[in-house]
Amino acid sequence: MIDQDLPSLDDLVPGGIAEGDYQLATYDKLPLTLVRGEGSRAWDADGTPYWDFYGGHAVCLVGHSHPLWRKIVAEQAERLVFYSNVVYSPVRSAACKALVDFAPANLTRVFLSNSGAEANEAALKLARHHTGRPEVVAFEGSFHGRTLGALAVTHSEKYRRYALPEYGHTRFVPWGEVPVLDDGVAAVILEPIQSLAGMRTATREFLHGLRAECDRAGALLILDEVQTAWGRLGAHTAADYYGVRADLLTSAKSAAGGFPVGVTLVDDALARHVKPGDQGTTFGAGPLACAAILATQHIVRAEALVTRARDLEARVREGFHGEVRGHGGLLGLVYDTPVKPRVAELRQRGFIVGGSDDPRVMRLMPPLNVPFEAVDALLATLRSLG
Ligand SMILES: Cc1ncc(COP(=O)(O)O)c(C=O)c1O
Repeated sequence: MIDQDLPSLDDLVPGGIAEGDYQLATYDKLPLTLVRGEGSRAWDADGTPYWDFYGGHAVCLVGHSHPLWRKIVAEQAERLVFYSNVVYSPVRSAACKALVDFAPANLTRVFLSNSGAEANEAALKLARHHTGRPEVVAFEGSFHGRTLGALAVTHSEKYRRYALPEYGHTRFVPWGEVPVLDDGVAAVILEPIQSLAGMRTATREFLHGLRAECDRAGALLILDEVQTAWGRLGAHTAADYYGVRADLLTSAKSAAGGFPVGVTLVDDALARHVKPGDQGTTFGAGPLACAAILATQHIVRAEALVTRARDLEARVREGFHGEVRGHGGLLGLVYDTPVKPRVAELRQRGFIVGGSDDPRVMRLMPPLNVPFEAVDALLATLRSLG
């Protein structure tokens, strides 16, 4: 029971505080102050609604403030907000099982952390530890996160400038080409769709070629599915979509529908060699995060969102008169000119969409249950803007 005499959230948020006066200025923000979300819409402080085709940064897979998500997370908050991995927890057991059940069959164990960067750090560490090899191969255009280990395999200079060489021996190779691996390579890491680089989408042939080369050289294949997993592509994972086996599959973003979670799924053969102390985290796999994972997984199944992602893609491909990259609910619309002015104009007309590091590519990564009327309205607006 919540005591009615306690202060409310509004009592603790007096308003009128300039964020930049207190928050470190690491973000170039959109001129938007959002205060509420429901389904695929978010409202600004003046009560103006926006259709959220940016999905809160590819996070809100099941929509904002889904009633079931709220209910399950609130129930867990009333029971136990936090205890670390040093004790057992029924909600953790159920969440780990739900993720493993949803993932490809060879990935039988999961390590939970708090972000995509951490999920990749864990995968890189396990791969080096397991193979005893130092080198990692990554791709031009890659983005794997901003911690030092994840930066070591992130390609763009824009993000890499603080990377330290001792955090990893990385060889960057051209996107789309299968490199020849030597026996110093622990792992190859890649995003099946390089979203930030402009939704550069791997082909089946490329991924299967990489798998074969990893097998030949005794290297592990790490799929960074921070953006592509949990139904986003119209398949459970990109590994399923492409029919390719990953030794390690990392994820975050929409895994818990908005609660911070990093997911590192591990192949059965590799998992058998992992011992206590090989990796750790205080907050990862906490009860609230696990409740959020369970709620999100339940909604994906109950609302058949994997199928819906395919329908969403078909709708966009039909209504957009130009090149569409990506799959399911992770799409890039390619223009001949920079999309920045279109992105700003769309915001004026009530749609939030994303740009990318390729100035000509607009990104759509909405909740998978976004109403088709909103999709059609966005496409009509895009056509009118030319
Ligand atoms: C493909 C990919 N990997 C890793 C990350 C890093 O995730 P996080 O920001 O949760 O650390 C991101 C974030 O955008 C991403 O898109």
